[in-house]
Amino acid sequence: MTIQTIATTPFAGQKPGTSGLRKKVTEFQQPGYLENFVEAIFLTVGGPDGLAGRTLVLGGDGRYFNRQAIQTILRMAAAHGVGKVLVGRGGILSTPAVSCVIRKHGAHGGIVLSASHNPGGPDGDFGIKYNIGNGGPAPEKITDAIFAHTGTLASYRISDAGPVDLDAIGTMRIEEMVVEVIDPVADYADLMQQLFDFDAIRTLFAGGFAMRFDGMSAVSGPYAKAIIEGMLGAPAGTVVNFTPEEDFGGHHPDPNPVNAAELVALMDGPDAPDFGAASDGDGDRNMIVGRKLAVSPSDSLAILAANATLAPGYRAGLKGIARSMPTSTAADRVAAALGVPCFETPTGWKYFGNLLDAGMATLCGEESYGTGSDHIREKDGLWAVLFWLNLQAASGKTVNQLVQEHWTRFGRNYYSRHDYEAVDAAAAEQMMAALRAQLPALAGRQFGDFRVRHADDFAYTDPVDGSLAQRQGIRIVMDDGSRIVLRLSGTGTEGATVRLYLERYEADPARHGIDTQEALAPLIEIAEQVSQLKQRTGRREPSVVT
Ligand code: G1P
Ligand code: ZN
Repeated sequence: MTIQTIATTPFAGQKPGTSGLRKKVTEFQQPGYLENFVEAIFLTVGGPDGLAGRTLVLGGDGRYFNRQAIQTILRMAAAHGVGKVLVGRGGILSTPAVSCVIRKHGAHGGIVLSASHNPGGPDGDFGIKYNIGNGGPAPEKITDAIFAHTGTLASYRISDAGPVDLDAIGTMRIEEMVVEVIDPVADYADLMQQLFDFDAIRTLFAGGFAMRFDGMSAVSGPYAKAIIEGMLGAPAGTVVNFTPEEDFGGHHPDPNPVNAAELVALMDGPDAPDFGAASDGDGDRNMIVGRKLAVSPSDSLAILAANATLAPGYRAGLKGIARSMPTSTAADRVAAALGVPCFETPTGWKYFGNLLDAGMATLCGEESYGTGSDHIREKDGLWAVLFWLNLQAASGKTVNQLVQEHWTRFGRNYYSRHDYEAVDAAAAEQMMAALRAQLPALAGRQFGDFRVRHADDFAYTDPVDGSLAQRQGIRIVMDDGSRIVLRLSGTGTEGATVRLYLERYEADPARHGIDTQEALAPLIEIAEQVSQLKQRTGRREPSVVT
């Protein structure tokens, strides 16, 4: 084995987005493409003393190119003098499990190989993301530094060692570096057992409670199988599509009512179990479904917060709640009732890290089916599902009852997101620019029953380190708290994706049964009037409505 220095030239556009670098697999397969980005990571996170003797965690969601990338990264880590790499068996680690393992083993950081819910397979997407020692996504100053390195690289270092066996638990070496292949589930399952009342959930299943968990042929399958069937005693067959496939079995592993249509149909039909749930490609998103009811992620965050003390890990109450800006304000109402602060952050989990580290927030959530807490520094799909199981076991109530009672107490925040995917990037940018230019004239303007109280391009000053994030999305807030939000996606790999978020508050329980799109129709119209989204993008309808 020898360490080699290979000459390279920079690739344009290796800029991490909302969640790491995501590109088409074919782009990642270009010689040197992955190597350059990994070299930039190691140069950035090594600091003045390099990575000598440090421990890193490595794993991914099992998508196409995962195994190959892991072998390359291991050989590069060895060349950079890394002390030890903990790698999930088969190259598998869910995003929340990487966060958990980094924290538990005091690792310097970790690399997650995933493009989350983006399609997999040879024609699909691949992604790579660095997480820091707190277990969370690298903050912007680190991702910016990585990007800066990608622009100036002239070489990368790599060992010429052969591939390591990823399929057997055990220890081996590349150069001086120890590679330890670990059980991807064990540490994570231990943590879940500390947070939730497994005895009560076991009793619930023993009493005939029926559930369906859809692993969507992605990474959460092995975790759900081991915990829900193995440890909690749910009958075999409760967890479906549990084997991670390189192309996710052709599924689009993004748990929402559109992509998890089979689960939603089951929950709407005569044979519906008591509870339905699904997770995404890398296991950090969750969808919660009751009978004939897909719970909106914004509501899910609010309901978990309002009932948190029913779970052992949250018995002491919450220090605060944090939600991303486009997420509905349902959680704000719970925070006010609990007398704890509610933080509004830009989109992306990385903005929650400081609040969690500083003990300012306990629960966090995003409208994009992401929910989590201070137990790790990533959103956590299965954690949310176990939390909902714990609530049902402890309260004896169904998902539907918990939701209805919540609305009765706090009011209902009707909520929807309309995505216009893969539209012309220049047209999308022009639309955003035109919206920005209109902002000063929007405040005070009347649209039918709605009057604009406040309109801005959201900016966030991190209360812990004072860092400022600007231009995070157009926010139009009405006098009654209803909101229209527009922003461009930072995770897409084709053209631009426009996201339109709509929210309307309704206090009166007699009006809690309206169809969501109908309840939001006046706001949808105002959004179109202000943005001319359809005309500018040439689309008549959104690609996805959730
Ligand atoms: C999307 C979601 C965002 C989430 C991110 C990573 O980002 O909207 O909430 O944190 O994926 O899972 P976007 O494509 O909107 O930038
Ligand atoms: Zn994900």
